[in-house]
Amino acid sequence: MRLTLRTSIILILAVMLTPVTGATGLDLHWLWDDRCADCHGHSGAFARQFLRVSGDELQGWHHVHDLRLFLHNHYLAGKEVDAVYNMLYAQASIQERFKNECSNCHESASKFVRDRLVFRDGVLFSRITGHPVRGFLEHHKNLEPDDVDFYTELLTRIAHEVYRP
Ligand code: HEC
Ligand code: HEC
Repeated sequence: MRLTLRTSIILILAVMLTPVTGATGLDLHWLWDDRCADCHGHSGAFARQFLRVSGDELQGWHHVHDLRLFLHNHYLAGKEVDAVYNMLYAQASIQERFKNECSNCHESASKFVRDRLVFRDGVLFSRITGHPVRGFLEHHKNLEPDDVDFYTELLTRIAHEVYRP
């Protein structure tokens, strides 16, 4: 009964939010938590610990040059392969910062994006206040301009992964 109610609420929310976000694809962070996290833990931590970026290639320690091919036979299919590959590539390319600097107050970045942020004409806004995220960050937590760029880019990338076309 509880599950049914929750599922209905999620469905109603999904329908309500679709015109705003254009979200019809599968949320990659949800996919990871559902299909990969049991064995690999958090996606960002996994990417940074076990994968590395070399030029424009993402490499594993075991699957050095065949990672994309490996993923095809490893719990993923079709378009999901490139989408997950790109997410891991992005995560392996940058340092862990959200977890250290923001998650005290905002939990995980993907949950934060899902709960609070939304795209309007390709720009990221607060779902709650309607303010653009970049403008908000300029006055949040004494962030320097470089940090504002970093976090705007990070949250925008994650929003693309969460709200897939
Ligand atoms: C049941 C446990 C399990 C699940 C679920 C699982 N994996 Fe794996 N994964 C493994 C094991 C074990 C290896 C090491 C095998 C190997 O290197 O051949 C591995 C290897 C990998 C590697 C390569 C690491 C390297 O060093 O080359 C990647 C990338 C990867 N998994 C991604 C994923 C993704 C993405 C998902 C979800 C869609 C997933 N895995 C789900 C167990 C799992
Ligand atoms: C000490 C707690 C705290 C930390 C640490 C923190 N925030 Fe916040 N953040 C808040 C609070 C509280 C709000 C909402 C209230 C407000 O408007 O200030 C907020 C709001 C936001 C919003 C706007 C969301 C919305 O719904 O309008 C963004 C974006 C944001 N934070 C990003 C970040 C980022 C990125 C970091 C890490 C660099 C960070 N925050 C660190 C407390 C924190």
